[in-house]
Formats: sequence, structure tokens, C-alpha cells
Amino acid sequence: MSISDGGALATAPEGRRSHRVAVIPGDGIGVEVTAEAERVLDAVAPALAKPLARTRFDWGAERWLRDGTTLPAGAFEDLRDHYQAILFGALGDPRVPDQVHARDILLGLRFKLDLYINLRPVKLLDDRLTPLKGKGERDIQIAVFRENTEGIYAGVGGTFKKGTPDEVAINEDVNTRKGVERILRAAFDAARARRKRVCMSDKANALTFAHGLWQRTWKVVAKDYPDVQTNHLYVDVAAMEMVRAPERFDVLVTSNMFGDILTDLGAAIAGGLGLAASGNIHPGRCSLFEPVHGSAPDIAGKGVANPLGAILSAALMLRHLGEAKAAGILERAVEEAVHAGKTTRDLGGALSTRECGAYVADVVAKTA
Ligand code: NAD
Ligand code: IPM
Ligand code: MN
Repeated sequence: MSISDGGALATAPEGRRSHRVAVIPGDGIGVEVTAEAERVLDAVAPALAKPLARTRFDWGAERWLRDGTTLPAGAFEDLRDHYQAILFGALGDPRVPDQVHARDILLGLRFKLDLYINLRPVKLLDDRLTPLKGKGERDIQIAVFRENTEGIYAGVGGTFKKGTPDEVAINEDVNTRKGVERILRAAFDAARARRKRVCMSDKANALTFAHGLWQRTWKVVAKDYPDVQTNHLYVDVAAMEMVRAPERFDVLVTSNMFGDILTDLGAAIAGGLGLAASGNIHPGRCSLFEPVHGSAPDIAGKGVANPLGAILSAALMLRHLGEAKAAGILERAVEEAVHAGKTTRDLGGALSTRECGAYVADVVAKTA
């Protein structure tokens, strides 16, 4: 088990002739980078134990503008029952008010499929890519375990006297014992396959009820893992430490909102958003894999988006499907592209999205 993958997360159910994968490119650069991830998946096909059967879905802003569909009726049951994984691009479009489609589709799938682990590896692939002075590849190898089905994202709340000077707006922070315990256990299990260190980050000094639950659960769960070293940091200090001394972290486990913020920070210290990958995972069930970045309307359509985060997300997907060998081939090919400077301009290279994807696919084809 390599440090890059965040530890072992159970594989998909056995017994099918192919892995059924739903592809949702989405909006903006989501479409551009997903095409490259698919190109690389085609190149790795000879190394797969079972072929991928991919089905593309057009859910996103264009579809919403056309007919008002976000997540179609029956879609989640279809994915749950007939697919082992979802390869996802990004959602977000300035033409859609409140990004209603993104919430329905992305948060909808995370919640409905109960994808409680948001695994976001923060791994520096080349010393030249970090903005942190004096830090290198050995210092920046963090597996962030972000709780992904509750917290302040749960959508519990409402408005009162909306649009008036007396307006009240509430989003409740929902934390359950079950939800907290299962993400903590996932983090500890992953740590056992890595460097055996887990840091939990919360804000229990201010959010005494919600994060008091995290603290109490943490103490109970830690007893089951006496071989794993534990450490707690309030989230403000955790953010500082990720910049000051990232080598302190091995596995970092935190709530939904804090995980969102800390992983953009993590992306920044490890080469930028274009390289950051993620898995929204329920072990053994249909899970969703996507780059950490969004639809990037500022560069969409220009052919300059970095496809490596999407390709590394496809590698995480292959691991979930039990295809560790093929996943390793993709990861090594991305590292080779980065070392050779065969990258898009955000990483200092001169390649277009397609040229970068094609380079990685060529490297993959030579080893697959
Ligand atoms: P963003 O991640 O889309 O972009 C932030 C910055 O990073 C931009 O300057 C962008 O050009 C750059 N960037 C992002 N990905 C890049 C890549 N692959 N290569 C090169 N540069 C890249 O975040 P944002 O601008 O805050 O959000 C845009 C839209 O995307 C919003 O609607 C937001 O809600 C949505 N969003 C969706 C997801 C998702 O689908 N998972 C994630 C984050 C944001
Ligand atoms: C992410 C995104 C989403 C999140 C948004 C689009 C709701 O920022 O996947 O990191 O906050 O989870
Ligand atoms: Mn985010």
C-alpha cells in the first residue's frame, strides 16, 4: 500500500464481468478534464483485470437550462444498483441561480449514496511545485479524511422574513454519533496502512455541542487503535501548521466544511488545485471520484485546464474498483509528466489540456 492512495478502502463487489462506471463531466472545465481522464483510462485498459463499461450522463448546467433537470428521478437508485463508480468532472455555472443544479447533483449524490468518506490526498509530486520554502516531497504527504454527509452541509435550516431588514438565515450544523464515528474509524484504518498517525481537527473550543461530540467520539475510537499515534489541533492552528510544518501530518480527519477549506489549502501547498484529486467513498458501494477543483469559468473553453487532478481521481477510482495495478500505472505516469515538465501552464508547462492528457496516455500505454 503506497502513501499516495490514503490507505486501503474496500473494493467493489465481485462477480461482474465488467466495472460499470457512470461518467458525469458536468460544466466548464469539468468536461475538458474528464475527457482526458477517459483517454487515460482507455490507455490503461490492457492492465485491467476487468474492463470498464462507461456510460455518460449529461447532467449539468446546459441540461438544467434546457429542461430544468438537475438529478433526474430514479437516477440515484440506478447509480446505486447498477454502477460501481462515478467519474465526475465539476459543476457550477454563472447562468444558474444559486447553483441549484450543483447542489442537487453533487451534494445530492454524496448524501443519497451515503458517501461518507471524502478522501483528498495532499501529495507533493515534485519539490519544484510547492510554494513552501525549504519543504519537499517527503514533507507533504497528507491523506485528508473529510466527513462528507453531514455537518453544516446537511441543508437543515431556513430563512425567516426573507428579503426584509429583519431577515434571519440559519444553517444548522448537524453531527451524529454514527456519522462522526465512521469517518474517524476510516481515518484510523487508513493510518494503519500508512505512517500510523492521525490528527483530528475541529473547533470544539467554540462549537461546544457539535464538536464536543467529535472530541468524545475521538477518545472512544482511539482506544481501539493503540498502535496509532493521535494528535488534536483546532482548525485555525491546523491551517497554520499545514503551511508551517506540513510534515507533522499523516492522516488528517475533520468535518465537512473544514475539510473543504483545508483541502484547497492542501492543494495550494502541493502544486495547486489542478493537481488535487478526491474520492467520495462508501467502501463496497458505488462511489464518486472527482478533482477537487470546480468548473473554473475563468478558463473554461480555453483548453488550458490542468487534467492531472482528474486523472489522479480516475486512479483513486481504479483503486476503489480493486484495480490497484492500473491505478499505480496512472499515478506513476502523472508523476513522470510532472517531472518532465509536460504540464499545463498552471504548473509552469506549455501544454494544452489535450496535449497533457495525451502525454500521460502515451506513458500509460507504454507500461499497461
Ligand atoms: P474553481 O476551483 O473552479 O477555480 C478556482 C481557481 O483555480 C480559478 O482561478 C481556476 O481557473 C483555477 N483552477 C481550477 N481548476 C483548475 C485546473 N484544473 N487547471 C488550472 N486552473 C484551475 O473554484 P471557483 O472559481 O470558486 O468555482 C467555480 C464554480 O465551480 C462555482 O460554481 C463553484 O461552486 C463550483 N465548484 C464546483 C466543485 C465541484 O463540482 N466539485 C468544486 C469547487 C467549486
Ligand atoms: C468541493 C466543492 C463543493 C463542496 C461545493 C461545490 C458544494 O467546493 O467539492 O470541494 O463544498 O464540497
Ligand atoms: Mn471545495
